[in-house]
Amino acid sequence: MENVFGFAEACLHRTAIDEKLALTHQAWHLLEKGQLSLIPDQPVLPIAQVRFPDKPVLLAPRDMPKRKLGTAEGIAAFFHAIAHVEFVAIYLSWDMLYRFRGMPNQFYQDWLRIADEEAQHFELIRTHLLAMHVNYGDLPAHSGLWDHAKDTADDLLARLAMVPRCMEARGLDVTPAIIVKFQQLGDDFSVRLLNRILTDEVGHVERGSYWFKFVCEQKGFEPEAKYRQLIKRYYQGGKPKGPFNREMRIIAGFSDAELDWLENTTL
Ligand SMILES: [Fe+2]
Ligand SMILES: [Fe+2]
Repeated sequence: MENVFGFAEACLHRTAIDEKLALTHQAWHLLEKGQLSLIPDQPVLPIAQVRFPDKPVLLAPRDMPKRKLGTAEGIAAFFHAIAHVEFVAIYLSWDMLYRFRGMPNQFYQDWLRIADEEAQHFELIRTHLLAMHVNYGDLPAHSGLWDHAKDTADDLLARLAMVPRCMEARGLDVTPAIIVKFQQLGDDFSVRLLNRILTDEVGHVERGSYWFKFVCEQKGFEPEAKYRQLIKRYYQGGKPKGPFNREMRIIAGFSDAELDWLENTTL
């Protein structure tokens, strides 16, 4: 039987984009058919061995060209940035699954399903970009998205706090306003695409919250206090800035107390 960690290793350490997408879908289909082993048969390789394609060229956020949604170039640049977020999200899902061993089977099933959804998001956005005559990799992209993974490679709770419960949760805050902009532009296709992704992302953050609480319970930590502590330790600048989408974050497993803390700028 094929092994999920073999697929993870290939997806994290090989750079060919289409191969990565195909392997991700193949692994998910094998799992659905009950033909994928979740029992590790190889040790975990260090996160420094994870490899990304040569393109896009990665730039610090301050060096990225400014983009406005009012022009065709601006819209293409926006979707290129989203394609990159989704591409790195495939890695983040695989890495969650790959690096943290000894969890219940459901953990591995959840992150493989999420990897498959991220691959679908990437493909949808890439196709949308190609219709604008831009391919993924043609423009530069944000260099920082993998940093939280490297920072939290040896701490599952920190990874869950920083990736699904911080980075991905940010998407729930900002995407609705972007959808409104595309509605105003009369771009129904982009609206549908972003809505589809947003719906899936609520589910990803929810799985992050679920497993965060699960591990806290296992280790005897109070989850709200642990979340605050990890964000203060790992988030540059102390705490993410709002406004926060309370309604969606509650569906995604945030508590009122966590949202109050995030919103309160003095704590
Ligand atoms: Fe996504
Ligand atoms: Fe996601």
